[in-house]
Amino acid sequence: MDLLKKGKGVTRSNQTMISYSFFSGIITIFFMTGFVGSELRRLPGFRVKRGWIWNQLSVEEEDPTPKIIGQLKTTYDTEDHAIKYSLSGEGAGEIFNIDEFTGEIHIHKTLDREQKAFYMLHAEAVDRKSGQPLEPESEFIIKVLDINDNAPQFINEPYTSSIPEMSPIGTTVVQVTAIDTDDPLIGNNAKLIYSILQGEPYFSVEPKTGIVVTSWPNIDREANENYLVVIQVKDMLGNTGGYSATTTVTITLTDVNDNGPTFQHNLYTFAVVESTPLGTTIGRVMAEDADVGVNARMNYTIDDLEESATFRVKTDPATQEGIVILAKPLDYEKKSRFVFAIEAINSFVDTRFLSISEFRDRTMLKILVMDVDEPPVFSAPFYEWKVLEDAAVGTLVGTVYARDADATNNPIRFSLSNNSKLKNVFKIDTNNGTVVLIKPLDRETAAWQNLTVIAKETSKNQLSSVSVVIKVLDVNDNIPTLSKEYKPYVCEGTQAGKVIQVISAVDADDPTEGHHFYFSMVPDKTINPNFTIRDNQDNTAGILTRRSTFTRRDQILYHLPVVITDSGSPALSSTITFTISVCVCHSRVHCPSSGIETLTLSLGVNMQALLGLSICLITIIESL
Ligand SMILES: *[C@@H]1O[C@H](CO)[C@@H](O)[C@H](O)[C@H]1NC(C)=O
Ligand SMILES: *[C@@H]1O[C@H](CO)[C@@H](O)[C@H](O)[C@H]1NC(C)=O
Ligand SMILES: *[C@@H]1O[C@H](CO)[C@@H](O)[C@H](O)[C@H]1NC(C)=O
Ligand SMILES: *[C@@H]1O[C@H](CO)[C@@H](O)[C@H](O)[C@H]1NC(C)=O
Ligand SMILES: *[C@@H]1O[C@H](CO)[C@@H](O)[C@H](O)[C@H]1NC(C)=O
Repeated sequence: MDLLKKGKGVTRSNQTMISYSFFSGIITIFFMTGFVGSELRRLPGFRVKRGWIWNQLSVEEEDPTPKIIGQLKTTYDTEDHAIKYSLSGEGAGEIFNIDEFTGEIHIHKTLDREQKAFYMLHAEAVDRKSGQPLEPESEFIIKVLDINDNAPQFINEPYTSSIPEMSPIGTTVVQVTAIDTDDPLIGNNAKLIYSILQGEPYFSVEPKTGIVVTSWPNIDREANENYLVVIQVKDMLGNTGGYSATTTVTITLTDVNDNGPTFQHNLYTFAVVESTPLGTTIGRVMAEDADVGVNARMNYTIDDLEESATFRVKTDPATQEGIVILAKPLDYEKKSRFVFAIEAINSFVDTRFLSISEFRDRTMLKILVMDVDEPPVFSAPFYEWKVLEDAAVGTLVGTVYARDADATNNPIRFSLSNNSKLKNVFKIDTNNGTVVLIKPLDRETAAWQNLTVIAKETSKNQLSSVSVVIKVLDVNDNIPTLSKEYKPYVCEGTQAGKVIQVISAVDADDPTEGHHFYFSMVPDKTINPNFTIRDNQDNTAGILTRRSTFTRRDQILYHLPVVITDSGSPALSSTITFTISVCVCHSRVHCPSSGIETLTLSLGVNMQALLGLSICLITIIESL
């Protein structure tokens, strides 16, 4: 066979290709019909009695020279060419020819054991004269003897494998397998031995099994991730003269967490303006890790309780950087420099490879706060003032305070917002923020006077505003009045001591403890014999009769002045004169309104003038 056609896997060494040695063991198998084996044993190869005689028939493969490989003979053969030998069966005439006179078998062609390991043939010996067979037809076998003409070949290629770095010695990586088509029973033609050509000292191969194992204690992925290991297989038990083939095993080391983080810098310095909004990224820090994937994941923490309130650090999931974020407002005027440490630790530590402390690293962070021009700052988020409603024009209502938050400390100018409707009620001092009243107030018209005050830095356009709510406090400046119009009357025959009308009072003021009204008769020299007032102590009072003898015949109308006093300080009072009419009522005590109408018509008097309430007097009585 053409060795070069065997393709890949065959060694490229010219030397091995050319210098193969033939293996020429002789194994002969006899097949004979009709003869006794014991006679053959006594005289191997030849017969003494009648019958077939032949040499052991075998032929070495791959031998191109035509030659005699054996001879058929019968014991009747007397070398006088009286017998004619003939051959039939596999390869007869093509590969094997028989000399019809001598019985010698010739071979003409090169055989390949790997294609056909034996040939079955039939021999005949015929008497030339009679044409009669001298021997019965016999079957025999020509065996093709193996030589080492096939190189081993790797199967299941290509070989790839991945193992964790730092695997212990002897860890199986992969098994390579080669086959050899030569006869496994003949010598070492198909006896294979594996060896490693490339990949030592990290890897080795078990000679008989082809199992590739690690042979180095700490193979480090970070030093080299991929290895190409070349394995050679040789037949003939690896002895010289055999064939060989090679294969490549691609070995990838997978990562284990055998490296801790290391910050790129010992100190990071970031600058940030004080007006930076919360949540803004201030900067990024990076702890590098020679590992990959989850083994390079990082947790960052701020190593300072105080500063960890002002800043936060979180991991960027894409880059594993630490993102420093502003968590509390900055104020350049209060603190312009932050110095603290940041710690990085692997998210998943593996103490098989390193101690916990080796999975950590620290760096320092310096954050410089930059001043920005800030608007003025008021001393309070809003102002709440109170002013009495009767306060005089020019009264000081309150003062707002503001200062420039910046180091420059510009003077501040105050003004009232232009859209404030109260610009004509209050005036603010431009320089000191004092608010004064410039128009009288009336709580009953507006109980709140809410302003917006603007503070502006003199040299800049920075301004801010603040709300000022002004509560107008009540002053007792309203007299009490009746809550509605009353038309009291008394029926003829009404008993003394009867309530003929209940009255109540109101007042526009808003005393803090609520209203309290007092009802009384106008003080006089004599006691009114006709009617009196009873204060119910609940802001109502009753008008009572003092006698039972009212008749229209005597008198139709009575006037009763009543004093109502409020509880203010000072108290205000009013005197109201009720006009009480006498009417003829029906059997019931209840007096129908028709009685009044009758009266009105009969008198022809203007009702309004007659029954309307008249406020006679407003007096301010000094409270006692
Ligand atoms: C890293 O952070 C994660 C999520 O907060 C947490 O589950 C994990 O335990 C942390 N790892 C270490 C080593 O602190
Ligand atoms: C208010 O109006 C005056 C005059 O129109 C103007 O000079 C001033 O700048 C305004 N102030 C504000 C705060 O708009
Ligand atoms: C503010 O200035 C005005 C006018 O100059 C002055 O009358 C007032 O007393 C000052 N107020 C304060 C609180 O200084
Ligand atoms: C003024 O402010 C007070 C307190 O916030 C509020 O109760 C009131 O309704 C406001 N009045 C006006 C007229 O805005
Ligand atoms: C009380 O009634 C009598 C009889 O009608 C009358 O003369 C008197 O003037 C009345 N007194 C008052 C204070 O109204």
